[in-house]
Amino acid sequence: MGTARKYNIIDPATGKIDRRIFSEQTIYDDEMEKIFGRAWLMIGHESLVPAEDDFFHTYMGEDPVILTRDGHGRLHALLNMCRHRGNRVCRVDDGNAKRFTCTYHGWTYRNDSALEYVPGESEAYYGALDKSSLGLIEARVETYAGIAFATWAKDAPSLEAYLGDARWYLDTVFNRRDGGMQALGPMKWLEPVNWKTLVDNCSDNYHVPTSHLASARVQTRYLGRPRLSHEDQFESPNKHAFVNGHSITFRDADDNAPRYMHGVSSETFQLFQEYHDATMPEVERRLGTLRARRVQLGNHSIFPNGILGLRLALPRGPLKTEFWHFVLLDRDAPEELKRVIRIGSQANNGAAGMFEQDDVDNWRQVTAASTSRFGRRHPQDLSMGLGHAGAHPDYPGLVSERYISENNQRLFYRRWEEFMNAESWAGIPLDLIKARFDGTATMQG
Ligand code: FES
Ligand SMILES: [Fe+2]
Repeated sequence: MGTARKYNIIDPATGKIDRRIFSEQTIYDDEMEKIFGRAWLMIGHESLVPAEDDFFHTYMGEDPVILTRDGHGRLHALLNMCRHRGNRVCRVDDGNAKRFTCTYHGWTYRNDSALEYVPGESEAYYGALDKSSLGLIEARVETYAGIAFATWAKDAPSLEAYLGDARWYLDTVFNRRDGGMQALGPMKWLEPVNWKTLVDNCSDNYHVPTSHLASARVQTRYLGRPRLSHEDQFESPNKHAFVNGHSITFRDADDNAPRYMHGVSSETFQLFQEYHDATMPEVERRLGTLRARRVQLGNHSIFPNGILGLRLALPRGPLKTEFWHFVLLDRDAPEELKRVIRIGSQANNGAAGMFEQDDVDNWRQVTAASTSRFGRRHPQDLSMGLGHAGAHPDYPGLVSERYISENNQRLFYRRWEEFMNAESWAGIPLDLIKARFDGTATMQG
C-alpha cells in the first residue's frame, strides 16, 4: 500500500497547527524540493522582457533563474548556473543579450539555453565534448495574462489547470483590459520571517482593524477613506474563496464604485470613477457582466508564494524571506492614474509602506514564536469559522460564509500538506475547472 503520510501539521477538526513548520531547517529543505521544486511559481511579467533578447533575473525558490525572450520571441526560464563548474552566467538584474558568457572559463550560452561556444573545444577537449547535452537547465514556462510562471516539474499540469477557477477571480484585475498590464519594479528587501506567514496573511482580514488601526486612521483623516471597524468587517458582504491552494478575498459590488486601490483619495476618486466608467464596456466584453461589474478582487495569494498582485515571497531559509514588490498597472490607463497608483502603492506597501510596516512587525513575532523552545510546543489556533464554508451558487471554489474567517488559512496549510506528502504530481489533487468564464478574455490575455 502507499507510503506513510509524513506531515500531519494541521488538525482539520480544531484548526491547530504545528509551529515547527515555520522554523525547522529540515522541513524547509523539504519545502524547497516538494513545493518550490514542482509548483508553478510566479517569476515575472512579460512586460519586463518586452523585446527580443531582453532578459530579467529572477528566482524559483532559492534558485537563480534568467527569464529570457529569445530571437523568435519565445520565453525561457534558465537556471543561472554554468554547466561546467557552476558559476553564474548572468550577474545583472536585467538587460538585452543574445548570449551569456561565463566569466570563469568562457563557456557561452544562447538565450534559448543552448551551449554555443566552448574555448578549446577542439584543442583542449579533442572535440569530445557533447555540447548539445550541456545547455543551461531550463524550466517549463507558461504565462497567464502576461504574468510569467515556471515549474521544474515535467509532470506538472498546465498552468491553466493549476490556477483552475481561481482565474475566474484573478481575471477581474489581471485580465481586465485588451492592452494588458505592465509591471514596474521590483523593490526588494529582506525580512526575518518565514515565507508562509505572509502568504497566510493575504487572506486574513481579521487583523486589519487592529494591526492597521493607525494607518487606517491616517487614511480616513487625510484621504477621506471611510472609517474601518470590526463591526463593519463582521457584517461585510465581502467574501473569501479558496481554489487549488489559491486564496481569494473579494467584494461583491453592486454600487458601480471602482475597486479600491492604494492611490484612491477624495482628490483622486473622480479619476478612478471616470476610468472605471469609460472602460466598463470593454471590461464587460472581456469578462461578462457579473465579473466586470460585481466581482472586485481583494487580498489574495497564488500558491505557493505569489501575494497581492505581483509580489513575491522568496524563501531564503526558514527564518528569512526576500520580498519583491512590483506595481502592476493597466498599460493603457491614463498617465495621471498610473502615477497616483504607483505613488499610492509605495506609500502603503513596499519596504517603507505604511501598511507593510504594520504587517511585517506581526510576521516577525509569529516567526520568532516558532523558535521559542517552550512556545513552539503549543500550536497556533486557526479555528475561526470551522464548518462554515462550502459551495456557493454564484461563486466558484470553497466559499466562506463570512468575510472574516480562517477557512483560507486552514486550507492553505492543508494544501501545503498535500504537496509535502505527495510522491509526485499524480498524488496532488486538483479541482476541475467548473466556473463559467463569460467574455473573451483567455489565458493569453
Ligand atoms: S564554470 Fe563556467 S566556464 Fe567554467
Ligand atoms: Fe495587513
